[in-house]
Amino acid sequence: MIDDEADIREVVSISLTDAGYRVATAADGRTGLLRVQSEPPQIVITDIRMPGMDGIQVLDAVKKLNPDIEVIVITAFADLELAVKALQLDASDFITKPISDSALHLALNRAKTRYTVRKQLKDYTRLLEKEKEDQARILHQDKMMSLGRLAASVVHEINNPLSGILNYIRLMHRILRSGPLGAERQEKFQGYLDLVDKELSRCTQIVSNLLTFSRKSPPAFETVHIDDLLERCILLSRHRLQLQKIDLATDIQPDLPPVTGDANQLQQCVINLIFNAVDAMPAGGTLTLAAGIDRGKNRLTIAVSDTGCGIEEKNLPHIFEPFFTTKQEGYGVGLGLSTVYGIMQRHQGAVTVDSRPAKGTTFRLEIPLER
Ligand SMILES: Nc1ncnc2c1ncn2[C@@H]1O[C@H](COP(=O)(O)OP(=O)(O)OP(=O)(O)O)[C@@H](O)[C@H]1O
Ligand SMILES: [Mg+2]
Repeated sequence: MIDDEADIREVVSISLTDAGYRVATAADGRTGLLRVQSEPPQIVITDIRMPGMDGIQVLDAVKKLNPDIEVIVITAFADLELAVKALQLDASDFITKPISDSALHLALNRAKTRYTVRKQLKDYTRLLEKEKEDQARILHQDKMMSLGRLAASVVHEINNPLSGILNYIRLMHRILRSGPLGAERQEKFQGYLDLVDKELSRCTQIVSNLLTFSRKSPPAFETVHIDDLLERCILLSRHRLQLQKIDLATDIQPDLPPVTGDANQLQQCVINLIFNAVDAMPAGGTLTLAAGIDRGKNRLTIAVSDTGCGIEEKNLPHIFEPFFTTKQEGYGVGLGLSTVYGIMQRHQGAVTVDSRPAKGTTFRLEIPLER
């Protein structure tokens, strides 16, 4: 209780002590503040008009010291303007002189309520923060778990081709040891080399998929010409399309503007979508590769459509998750679409899907254009 008038200090002090409060008094602002600092109270009552430091300054200083402390100011009737200012500075209340007991206790009760509510709010915020931390920890654990699964799938995926390669190399050794290479054995030898080649590229592909997925390979942004890129994708997948009796249709808008991006990663996206489309059409069908401009979004779009099995509705929310696959073991790792998703994020673009079971699927890549 800070007031320069000794009488008021005494009256208020007695009244409050009787009501069960612990009271400390000070005759001026500076002394009062020192006490607030050394023994922080829950509530400060201060007169507004005092010589030296006035009540508004006290209020301001107390709130700066500890915003949780409630401050009640005492004003004269004529000081309404000061009272308003005090409230703006977050005083909890004001009482007017002459101080009536009932007004004093009412103001104190309100201050007490504010004090406890504020404290509860703080505890609650702390609780929420802890919960947030817990959630972050759980997310991290999830990530570690998926990393574990990732490691397991690498071992699983790479182990098969590696043991294949080892076998072929042993066979080739045996062929070499058993004498000079005749035409027939040379052919066999060549066949084994081809298989080694194939298995090794599978390993490389798995590793590069994983690298983009785990963001280990830094993207190299450059000017990318999408028509050239699509041309390369067609070349790379032509063989698979022919094998599976899939017709290729293209609808690539001429004079597409270049985009900025990582050509390898973008190519990987398109290839992943094409391979998924091929897998969806085991009995043949049509694959359509389209590219154009979405003026509204200022984006270049690449659409890969198939006339395949489509995606069941219940699977749609999961297809972009790493390791989600509906393919038989050994046929899909479930990393293709999550890789596409990650790459599109890094390009500030998007990937969307539109699918109808038994009719077909369209995946659309959106890549931002220069403004
Ligand atoms: N064009 C499509 N038609 C039908 N289903 C699709 C198509 N593309 C993706 N899917 C579904 O989404 C799943 C996830 O695809 P994703 O490319 O991520 O993994 P995957 O092809 O199973 O394995 P990976 O690409 O790692 O070899 C597939 O298993 C399949 O069920
Ligand atoms: Mg795939």
